[in-house]
Amino acid sequence: MYGSTNLSEEDARRMNTTVEDPEKLEAFEARIARGEKIEPQDWMPVEYRKQLIRMIEQHAHSEIVGALPEGTWITRAPNFRRKLALIAKVQDEVGHGQLLYSAAETLGKTREEMMNDLLSGKSKYSNVFNYPANTWADIAVIGFLVDGAAIVNQTINSKGSYGPYCRALERICYEESFHLKQGHDNVVYLATGTKHQRAILQDAINRWYRPLLHFFGPPDVQSAHSEKLMKWKVKLASNDDMRNQFLDMYVPKILELDITFPDPNLKKNEDGIWEFSDPDWDEFKRVINGDGPCNAERIAVRKFAEEAGRWVRQALMNPSEKYQVPLA
Ligand code: COA
Repeated sequence: MYGSTNLSEEDARRMNTTVEDPEKLEAFEARIARGEKIEPQDWMPVEYRKQLIRMIEQHAHSEIVGALPEGTWITRAPNFRRKLALIAKVQDEVGHGQLLYSAAETLGKTREEMMNDLLSGKSKYSNVFNYPANTWADIAVIGFLVDGAAIVNQTINSKGSYGPYCRALERICYEESFHLKQGHDNVVYLATGTKHQRAILQDAINRWYRPLLHFFGPPDVQSAHSEKLMKWKVKLASNDDMRNQFLDMYVPKILELDITFPDPNLKKNEDGIWEFSDPDWDEFKRVINGDGPCNAERIAVRKFAEEAGRWVRQALMNPSEKYQVPLA
């Protein structure tokens, strides 16, 4: 599924290059234009490598941090069937992290470096996982709408140019579609339940609406990386296009349950473009830069996991340790 995870000596030397060999660059861009996949051992511009590391790494962090808000509800799930489904989902999310870290490693950054950058705050992860899951309805909304948003993004990006990332995304999308069914079933159950169940669902939608708009990144005019990423077919749709696709697919599914969105200006225009009120992009910037409601808690839990698991990693990496058959 992946490839070599070591940078060749030449690629390592080139990491500080800013000017690329024009012939190689032209041949690389021609391959992308023909729709070919780029593999780890192939020549690639340094900026392409750096952008992919940044994006795949952020994605991997989002999966393992994303497991935390849902993980806290495993012991509080309303019944055994819901508990089993949630355990399986959380396990899948951590598995997605594994796939994505492996894909990022093929570009030459080690897992230890990535983990250190997450814990020091140097690397980002998705804004949405810095909000609390206050009630069971948050789990329903995460399963249906956060995973729905992720599927929109990942299905598009799975057609991209970097082989290992695309193959990881294809597999992730299969699993995410089960998560979506779990989330939808949960949302419909609450929406057709008691007054209290409908009220907690409405409250959760009210709180998740803005973070979900933020999920697809800043408006296209403010997006720092889109142009390059789209030129090299890492991203196949802009932030605004993906956001629009998401609203198109999911707003009607919530409205048909007689649940509303906390935005009087949310509507679809005749040209197919959704309009909405300014979702407070300052809040987005604060949250992705470490100052959201749960950033400190999420990183503290990851630090605990890192420290508590250190002895296991050390034992696994020590080649002199051999398994001893117990005497008795
Ligand atoms: N959460 C956290 N940070 C985000 C974000 C989000 N939802 N959306 C954008 N950002 C950050 C970007 O990482 C970038 O910061 P950086 O320069 O420090 O890395 C900055 O905001 C500007 O955004 P933009 O130039 O538009 O970034 P982008 O072209 O990489 O597009 C995504 C943003 C999320 C659409 C893109 O990175 C992507 O598709 N990532 C893969 C999918 C993913 O990570 N999903 C997460 C959870 S499942």
